[in-house]
Amino acid sequence: MNDAEAAAELARLAAEIARHDEAYHKRDAPEITDAEYDQLVRRNRELEAEFPHLLRADSPSRRVGAATLEGFAPFRHGVPMLSLDNAFAPEDFSEFCARIRRFLALPDTEPVHFVGEPKIDGLSVNLLYENGRFIRGGTRGDGAVGEEISANLRTLSDLPLRLKPPFPARVEIRGEVFMTREDFASFRAQQEAALAERERRRDAGEKLGPAVAVPVNPRNAAAGSLRQLDPSITAQRPLKLFAYAMGEASEPVAETHHAWLDTLRRWGFSVNPLSSEFNEAEAADFQSRMASARPTLAYEIDGVVYKLDRLDWQARLGFVGRAPRWAIAWKFPAEQAQTTLLRIDIQVGRTGALTPRAVMEPVMVGGVSVTHATLHNEDEIARKDVRPGDRVVLQRAGDVIPQIVAVVDPDRPDRAEKFAFPTLCPACGSHAVRIGDDVVRRCTGGLICPAQTVERLKHFCGRRAMDIEGMGDERLALMHERGWVVSPADLFRLSARRAELEALEGWGETSVTKLLAAVEARRRPALERFIFALGIRRIGEANAKLLARHYGNAALWRERMLEARIIGSEAREELGSIQGIGPSIAEELVDFFAEPKNLAALDDLLAEVTPEDAQVIEGGVFAGKTLVFTGSLTTMTRDEAQARAEQLGAKTSKSVSKKTDFVVVGEDAGSKAARATELGVRVLSEAEWREMAGL
Ligand code: IVH
Repeated sequence: MNDAEAAAELARLAAEIARHDEAYHKRDAPEITDAEYDQLVRRNRELEAEFPHLLRADSPSRRVGAATLEGFAPFRHGVPMLSLDNAFAPEDFSEFCARIRRFLALPDTEPVHFVGEPKIDGLSVNLLYENGRFIRGGTRGDGAVGEEISANLRTLSDLPLRLKPPFPARVEIRGEVFMTREDFASFRAQQEAALAERERRRDAGEKLGPAVAVPVNPRNAAAGSLRQLDPSITAQRPLKLFAYAMGEASEPVAETHHAWLDTLRRWGFSVNPLSSEFNEAEAADFQSRMASARPTLAYEIDGVVYKLDRLDWQARLGFVGRAPRWAIAWKFPAEQAQTTLLRIDIQVGRTGALTPRAVMEPVMVGGVSVTHATLHNEDEIARKDVRPGDRVVLQRAGDVIPQIVAVVDPDRPDRAEKFAFPTLCPACGSHAVRIGDDVVRRCTGGLICPAQTVERLKHFCGRRAMDIEGMGDERLALMHERGWVVSPADLFRLSARRAELEALEGWGETSVTKLLAAVEARRRPALERFIFALGIRRIGEANAKLLARHYGNAALWRERMLEARIIGSEAREELGSIQGIGPSIAEELVDFFAEPKNLAALDDLLAEVTPEDAQVIEGGVFAGKTLVFTGSLTTMTRDEAQARAEQLGAKTSKSVSKKTDFVVVGEDAGSKAARATELGVRVLSEAEWREMAGL
C-alpha cells in the first residue's frame, strides 16, 4: 500500500466511523454489529501505526479526550485508586488472614477464599465505560486524580471499545498496562539504535528530530509509551493490558472477585490466565508455584496480589490509610545468581561524580542476562571488599540494574589486591577528591573535564548564569562535538568561526548574527553571575552573591582564592569568616582553585570578559542582630528564612522583646507585629527582608 492509498482509506474510515458513532450515540440506531465496529477501529489503528505521518486531525483515535499540547487533562477517579500493603513471608500472609477474620468476627470453621493474581509491575489505568462504550481512561496519578490518556488507551488492542452485553450503565475497570520481556528487549534495542542515529546526525550537523528516551525497565517503557502526547506513537508501542479490578459501578456486577474476573473476560478483556481462586491454606502453595513459574513467564512479575473473594466482605473491611484491608501484595524475594567479577570501571558523571561499575561474566538473573552492576561508591566497594576475579552474589530487585550482594569466598588465598579507588579523574586526569562527609569522590577539573564540559557549558550559558540567549543545549553539544567550544572562553571567540557556523544545516546568516550578538552582550557580566556561572560545586546563586559582595571584584577574588589554598593563611581565615560560607563550601572553592587546569580556564575566560565590580558589604546588616519572623512568607518557608538569617550571622527568636532588632512580617501576622510597633522594634516587610538579605 502506498501513501495515497493509505490516505484514501484513512479518510474513508474516519467518515465511516464518525457515521456509526452518530448512529449509535445520537440516533440509538446502530447499523453494524459491535464486532464490525471494532474491526473498523482496529483497521484504522493499524493504518495509523504504519503511516503515522498520515494521521488525520479528525482521526477516530483522536476524537475522545485527545491531549492538548500543554499536557494531559486531569482525570478524576470515581472511586480512588489505592495501593497495596506488602507481605514478604508466610507469617505476613497469615497475619493478613487473621486480621480479616478478627475484623469480620469469622469463626475458625468459616472458609475464607482468595483470588491470587500475578503482580505485574506496569502502569495501572482506570477505564470508564458508559452504556458499554469506552468513554475515557486515565492513569492512577495520586490515586484521586490521574492524567487523561484516552486517545492513547484506544490504541491498545487489548482494550475493548465496546463491552459485550449485558453490562451496567456505568462502570470503571482497572487494569495494568505493561510490556512483555521480549517486546521490551526489542523496543529498547530500537530506541538505542534511534539514539545512536541521533548522535550520528548531531555529529554530522544534520537536523535532529525529537529526543529519544531509552527505557530502563518494562515499567518505564510502558509508562513512557502511554504518556505520549501523540497517540500515533503509543499505537506503535507493543503494549498489553490485563484487567483486574472494578472501580465505581452503577449497579452490582458480581458477588465474588472471581465471578467479576469472569465477567471481565466475557466483556472482552484479557484477564491474566494464571489468576485463580483457592482457600486460605492453599495460598502459600500458589505463591511458590508462581515463584517457580516466574522465570518462564513472558512478562516480569514481582509478587502475587491476593484478594479476598467475597465482595460483600471486601466492602465491610474497607480501607486503612491508602490500602484495602482485603488485599495484599506478597512479594517475591529478590532474585539472586552467582558470577565472576571481571573488572571495576569508573565512570565520570556529568557533575564530576566518579561512579564505580562492576563488569561481570554474563549470567541469567530472573530471566535477564546481566553483565553490569552498580557498586554505588568507594565506601561500598571497601565495605563489601569486592576485587576483580572474585565470585560474587548478584541480586536483581525490580530494576534492571542489579547489585552485588557479597563476595562468595572472601578468604580465598589467591585473591587480587584490594581495589584502589582512583584519586585522579579517569576522564581528564584532574584530582578527584572527597569533601566533608560526602561519600562521592568527584573530579575537580570542572571546566576542562570532557565528561563534564557540556553540562558545565550549559550551566555557564544558562539564564541565571551568563544568560547567553539562543545558546541552547543542542547547539552547545554540537559546538562541543566539533571542538569549537571546549571551555567557556571559547564562546567569546566564536565570531572567528562565523563561516563554519553559517554552513551548519538550518543555521543561516541571521541566526548566527543573533547568536554572536547575544555572546557579545555578555562581556561585562555582574560579578555574582560570573562566579555562579563557573559552576563550582556548592556555589549556587546565593553563595556567589555573598562572595561577590565580600570581594567586590574578580581580580581580588581570584587572588584571595589562590592564597586561601594554604591552610592557616589570612585569606583562608577571611574566606571562612564570611557569613554563610561554611568550611565545606570554602573547601570546594579552594579545591577548584587548586586545580591548575581550572585556573588556566578561568584566566583564559577573564581575558575575554570583564565582570562588573560588586558593591562590597561589610559584615552585613543582620550580623549579630536578633530577628523574629511572623506570619506566613510567600516566597520561602519560615524555616528557610530563619536558616538564611542565621547564615547571615543573625540570631532568630520566636518572641518579640526589647532585644529584638527586626521583626519580619508576612501575611496574616498576628500579635507579634503589634508588639513590635509597641516596643519600637523595626518592622520589615517580606520584600524589605529579601532586599536586605541579598535574596
Ligand atoms: S489491585 C485496591 N491487582 O500494584 C487494589 N494491583 O500496589 C489495588 N498491580 O498500582 C490494586 N497487578 O499497579 C491489583 N492484579 C493486580 C495487580 C495490581 C499489579 C499493581 C498496580 C497497583 C499496585 C498496587
